[in-house]
Amino acid sequence: MTKVLSVASECAPLVKTGGLADVAGALPAALAPLGIEMRTLLPGYPAVLSGMNGGEAVVLFDDLFGGPATIWAVELAGLDVLVLDAPHLFDRAGNIYLNDEGHDWPDNPQRFAALSYAAAHIGVEGAGAWRPDVIHGHDWQAGFVPEYLHGLAGGDDHVPFVFTIHNIAFHGNTGAEMLDTLMLDDWRFTADRYEFWGQISAIKAGLTGAAKVNTVSRTYAEELMTPEFGMGMEGVLRARKSDLTGIVNGIDLDVWDPATDPEIARYKTGKGKAKAKKILQAEFGLPESDGPLCVLVSRLTHQKGIDLLIEALPNVLARGGQLALLGSGDTDLEVALLALASRFDGVGVKIGYDEALSHRMMAGGDAILVPSRFEPCGLTQLYGLRYGTVPVVALTGGLADTVINASPAALAMDVATGVQFSPVTADAFANALSRLCDLYADPDVWAKLQRNAMKQPVGWETSAKAYGDLYAQVLKS
Ligand code: ADP
Ligand code: GLC
Repeated sequence: MTKVLSVASECAPLVKTGGLADVAGALPAALAPLGIEMRTLLPGYPAVLSGMNGGEAVVLFDDLFGGPATIWAVELAGLDVLVLDAPHLFDRAGNIYLNDEGHDWPDNPQRFAALSYAAAHIGVEGAGAWRPDVIHGHDWQAGFVPEYLHGLAGGDDHVPFVFTIHNIAFHGNTGAEMLDTLMLDDWRFTADRYEFWGQISAIKAGLTGAAKVNTVSRTYAEELMTPEFGMGMEGVLRARKSDLTGIVNGIDLDVWDPATDPEIARYKTGKGKAKAKKILQAEFGLPESDGPLCVLVSRLTHQKGIDLLIEALPNVLARGGQLALLGSGDTDLEVALLALASRFDGVGVKIGYDEALSHRMMAGGDAILVPSRFEPCGLTQLYGLRYGTVPVVALTGGLADTVINASPAALAMDVATGVQFSPVTADAFANALSRLCDLYADPDVWAKLQRNAMKQPVGWETSAKAYGDLYAQVLKS
């Protein structure tokens, strides 16, 4: 039995802002059949603490970055969780990363340094009787784990660290004057470790200190080593090329199952989808129409190409297509989308976060749109595949790896599952939406696309094995 400590800043269903939570929440169950026992170290946000009933205090800190803290071992929503209960850092209302003005919490460096420190402490001292063989950290919030392991173990002889990049856009950088505050060894503040243009960089600490680095698709692993996608870390990643792999995300096949989804009882493909579509149109205030109903569920940020959608949309509307969009994020995008909805009958927009509605959208939509400028993996196109909701995606990152474009050849071979476009521009997206309308207009071709999409394996099986192999490799070396 290999014991792995997963270190994440969010984890579904307890606390979620994006796909990282889904992955952190799904990995333990996906790995269990392989004889891997995973426990997840999470910050004690109110959303996590409020679900706790009992639990065992396994570690006490008198002063962890400004206040006392306890690590509780507890089972929550079927997950073995280690909760870092540090009220001075995590007991606050609102977004887990941002204050009410939408800016990072000023003490984010301390908050996630504390998470990483707690992980390293467990790596060296254990949590009660439990001691991990491997620590698996996610994104910059776990970046300092190897630094603290080095400090606490007094050298490099410690439990190995695997680092997964879900999004290189967030670096967790802070000024060099924070070295003491963050309890980092200043003699290790060098360009080959975690110094990045004079700043302290949490993600760089993870990238340079990990035994193995991976990201969430093969294409993104390649893209990360280029200036266009590496966000300044491309050189660091190129230096780690032999230790860098891509392991595509899966989705939870029980949570995303059109046959049993509680949000869409009685839903089946064919007639069932037509019914789900009507219900969805009504929910978004859309009239009935002959064209495809496109859905989009997303954080509203530059990454997600929402501005391209706004430009490309008239193409699909002119052909009877419609859009139902659910999202929240940048205010200017929210405002622009609401303006679009008031201008066009065929556009319905809901600003907010609504997990249940996102299920009804996968059920009732004909196509799911993902026009991202970069997308390490992307999950909504995977939900779409499983629900027979044909993905229209930018040819980048995980979107390139998980969709088979309906080219003439792929259609002839009957393997196509969606539509891809490149370059990631409004024009190319508009063309893709036109192609979508053509495909939709031919019921035989459309039915084949849906069938192929629904046949594509999108679960965790293969990728869980790949993570198992990664852990085995770091345990051997
Ligand atoms: P990212 O992690 O970059 O946001 P992913 O596609 O990997 O992108 O994951 C996003 C996850 O968050 C998906 O599970 C998606 O359904 C969910 N999601 C995003 N925005 C919303 C929203 N407004 N309401 C409900 N679910 C959302
Ligand atoms: C990130 C990426 C997304 C990925 C998710 C889970 O937030 O933006 O593409 O699917 O992490 O790995």
